[in-house]
Amino acid sequence: MTNITPTISAKVGANLHCQRYHPLKAIKDHIEQYVHAIYRKRTGSPLFTCIDNLSPVVSVEQNFDSLSVPQDHVSRAKNDNYYINSDYLLRAHTSAHERDLVRAGLDAFLCTGDCYRRDEIDAKHYPVFHQMEGVRLFDKQDIFTKDKNLDIFDNSMQETEEKQAVHSLEAVKFVENDLKEILMGIMNNLFGNIETRFVDAYFPFTHPSWEMEIKFQGDWLEVLGCGIMSHNTLRYYKFAPMILFDIPDIRLFWSKDERFLSQFKVDDVISNVKFKPFSIHPPLYNDISFWLSPAFSLNNFCDVVRSVGGDLVEQVSLVDDYTDAKTGRQSHCYRLTYRSMDRTLTNEEMNVIQV
Ligand code: PHE
Repeated sequence: MTNITPTISAKVGANLHCQRYHPLKAIKDHIEQYVHAIYRKRTGSPLFTCIDNLSPVVSVEQNFDSLSVPQDHVSRAKNDNYYINSDYLLRAHTSAHERDLVRAGLDAFLCTGDCYRRDEIDAKHYPVFHQMEGVRLFDKQDIFTKDKNLDIFDNSMQETEEKQAVHSLEAVKFVENDLKEILMGIMNNLFGNIETRFVDAYFPFTHPSWEMEIKFQGDWLEVLGCGIMSHNTLRYYKFAPMILFDIPDIRLFWSKDERFLSQFKVDDVISNVKFKPFSIHPPLYNDISFWLSPAFSLNNFCDVVRSVGGDLVEQVSLVDDYTDAKTGRQSHCYRLTYRSMDRTLTNEEMNVIQV
């Protein structure tokens, strides 16, 4: 089935974007440095992980299915891609790696690589070209630093031109702004002050979506596609087994309760099982607040909570973040949600843990 010509296969592995003194590497380095200069973690290390060494040979599943590209979508055509066989092809875009990188635990990354598309021949088209993919996942804390009452999600469940059903408009506007700002920043940093504009676009794995154009010799030139990642696709990346079986809480995977385990004792679990909750026991809440030392880490705190509270702790969420104006000392208040998967917890039991 392959339609890869010798001219094309000779380009695979050239990795121009990693070759010292090559203009493509120079652009990659320049953008990476710009992004590192702007986005740092609280510890000072770069927020974005840079990846440039992933093989351009990807599966059809990675290039299309993982991004919710419909089975009959034109972009899958043999006429437009370089297929190795019916299951593998030379990546048509670096988006082919999004799912795997998110699953690997990255929530901010730049991924650069050579991409392959069968195309017409002219000065601006070549069957091998390079893309840089940027992904950033946001938490509620990243977006709403001040107003704790706002949420990333919205229950109105209305998809509109401006947003996906699950997102709140406030969150979408924040992310849209952040996205457009960084992209304009990158372009201005590369080209000096240039005119840019965003045109509404469609991609199966983002909504809303835009194409960014820059003014070049009097004409608008499309330079990239972008958008807000589809929450459904993203949810699937992170929580595939939970979604597949409708499992509401990750702790259930560790359950020894027969009411859980017996539900999976059937042939072809994948297509036959939807988990039926046996009972949902009520939660109990308790708040804990303390001053932060410079060495404080949320993960360390959560480990302490888990080692004391075990699987009875369902959630730890920050409810208050206070900095004393005079001393500069910072304190956090966390709400701990306790719930047992198999019985109703009593206040006495919780108090023993909390104290
Ligand atoms: N992968 C898309 C393309 O090559 C561009 C894109 C990337 C769109 C990321 C949205 C988000 O056309």
